[in-house]
Amino acid sequence: MAAEDEKRIAGEAAVALVKDGMAVGLGTGSTVRYFIQRLGQLAREGMSVIGVPTSMQTERLAAQAGIKVGTLQDHPELDLTVDGADEVDPKLDLIKGLGGALFREKIVAKASKRFVVVVDSSKVVRNLGEKTPVPVEVHVFGWKATLGWLSDLGCKPSLRKSGMNPYMTDNGNFIVDCAFGGIPDPAALEENINNIPGAVQNGIFAGMADLVIVGKAGGVKRLERAKRAVSAASGSPLSA
Ligand code: A5P
Repeated sequence: MAAEDEKRIAGEAAVALVKDGMAVGLGTGSTVRYFIQRLGQLAREGMSVIGVPTSMQTERLAAQAGIKVGTLQDHPELDLTVDGADEVDPKLDLIKGLGGALFREKIVAKASKRFVVVVDSSKVVRNLGEKTPVPVEVHVFGWKATLGWLSDLGCKPSLRKSGMNPYMTDNGNFIVDCAFGGIPDPAALEENINNIPGAVQNGIFAGMADLVIVGKAGGVKRLERAKRAVSAASGSPLSA
């Protein structure tokens, strides 16, 4: 099945977790886009829901879809957040941020009672970091020094570009993509990166996801953290 179809199946399935009156964190990217569009449809049909976006791009998308947009200041505790990911390992640790929104995504995920991730099957890996670099949002001031300290952690760092210029986040920072290969201890690396001066936040989300919904032909696969073990049930309907 094409990755795009798997993204649509996963994104649309997550809408079943939203209840009337909820404040919902809205992730960023091509998979969660399907969730936002379907949620917008429900909002236009009368469901009462507030969406808190994780990027300017998502804010525009949500408003266009007909979702009432709120802020984390007004809704510091969210009922649910749905977001995509670039890699998911068997413990449901994640790499996020290839879309550049990791800083706001991590804050919104942390502020949520339930953090649900929607992905196509190509995102599920055995070892975190095996395909994807870890994006690190770095402050513009002294970014080259920060890049050097990231390299000292054992990665190949590269400054993300947008054409000829450095890519700039919604927060006015740069992104350094750090290729580590496999990451044996994601939680430790997440902390070590954040201890580097100039590193604003990084794309490892260790121990945060409660549920991962993987789109596949004929239904979805659910990977749950609840019992501290990963369980899978194919094609089962989603419920809260
Ligand atoms: C945005 O910064 C990212 O964290 C995205 O959530 C992640 O890159 C997944 O995006 P796609 O669903 O487009 O693959």
